Amino acid sequence: MSRKGRKKKYVTLNNGVKMPILGFGVYQIPKEDTKRCVLDAIKVGFRAMDTAQSYFNESEVEEAIKECGLSREDLFITTKVWIDNYGYEKCKTSIKESLKKLQTDYIDLVLLHQPFSDYYGAYKALEELYHQGKIKAIGVSNFYPDRLTDICLFDRDVIPAVNQVETSPLNQQIKAQENMEKYGVAIEAWAPFGEGKSGMFTNETLVNIGKKYNKSAAQVILRWLIQRGVIIACKSTHVERMQENFDVFDFELTDEDMNNIKKLDSNDSLFFNH
Ligand SMILES: NC(=O)c1ccc[n+]([C@@H]2O[C@H](COP(=O)([O-])OP(=O)(O)OC[C@H]3O[C@@H](n4cnc5c(N)ncnc54)[C@H](OP(=O)(O)O)[C@@H]3O)[C@@H](O)[C@H]2O)c1
Repeated sequence: MSRKGRKKKYVTLNNGVKMPILGFGVYQIPKEDTKRCVLDAIKVGFRAMDTAQSYFNESEVEEAIKECGLSREDLFITTKVWIDNYGYEKCKTSIKESLKKLQTDYIDLVLLHQPFSDYYGAYKALEELYHQGKIKAIGVSNFYPDRLTDICLFDRDVIPAVNQVETSPLNQQIKAQENMEKYGVAIEAWAPFGEGKSGMFTNETLVNIGKKYNKSAAQVILRWLIQRGVIIACKSTHVERMQENFDVFDFELTDEDMNNIKKLDSNDSLFFNH
C-alpha cells in the first residue's frame, strides 16, 4: 500500500457514496452509556456510527449527534432493519420510525440485519426509500455467499452497497469477500476483535507483529482489515481503547505480516452460524 493508501480513511461504495473505513459500533452498549460513548468516539475521530433497530439505542445515538457540534454531513450513520420489521410495508414504517429516533432527514446506510423471513419485500422498501433520497446507500448483513448472490441476481435495480458480516483473524471471510467483490458489494466487518473471544487480544502472532510497530494486537487487527479493504465497525466503552483503535493510520503491515495473519483463519464463526 502506498503512503497515500495508508492514510486513506474512506471507501467509495458502488453508488459513489463515501463511507469511513473505520467506524464505531454501539451493539451491547447500554442505553444510559450510549450518548457518552458516541460523544467520546467522535472526539477521538470516529465519524461512522453503526447502530440497529434491535440495539434499542438509536435515540441515544441521536442525542450524541445533536450535541457533538459537527454538521450532519460530517457523520455517517448506519442502522439495520430487524427481521420482525421485514416485508415491504412494515420495513417502510420501521425506517420512518428510525428516521424519527435518529432525528435526521436521511440515513447514510440501512442494512437488512439478517437473511430470514420476507427480506425481498423489505429490500424493495429500502430501494424505494433510496430512490426518494431518504437513504443514501442500502445493503445487507449476515448474507452468506448463496443469499448474497441470490439478492444480487434477483432483478434488482439497486445492488447492495455493503454486506456486514462477522470478520476477524479467526474468521477471515476470504471467499465471501471474493464473492462480494464479484458483485461490487463492499465487505464490512462486525466483531473485528471477535469480542475478545479465543484470546484474540493476546494472540501470539498478532502481539508479535504489533511489537515491531509498537502497536497492540487490536491495532494490528484493524490495520490488517483496512489493508484488505474491509470496512470496520468496532466497539469499546473505554475512551482510551477508542483512541487506541483509531490510531491505526500511521503504520503498514508487510506482505509477510499479512500472510502470517492469514494462517490464523479457522474459517468458522466465533458466535453462531446464520
Ligand atoms: N450485523 C450484525 O449482526 C452485528 C453483530 C455484532 C456486532 N455488530 C456491529 O459490530 C460492532 C462491533 O462488534 P462487537 O461489539 O460485537 O465486538 P468487537 O468490536 O469485536 O469487540 C468489542 C469488545 O472488545 C473490547 N475492546 C475493544 N477495543 C479493545 C482494545 N483496544 N483492547 C482491549 N479490548 C478492546 C470491548 O471492551 P469494552 O467495551 O469494555 O472497552 C468489547 O468487549 C458492534 O458494536 C455492532 O455495531 C453487528
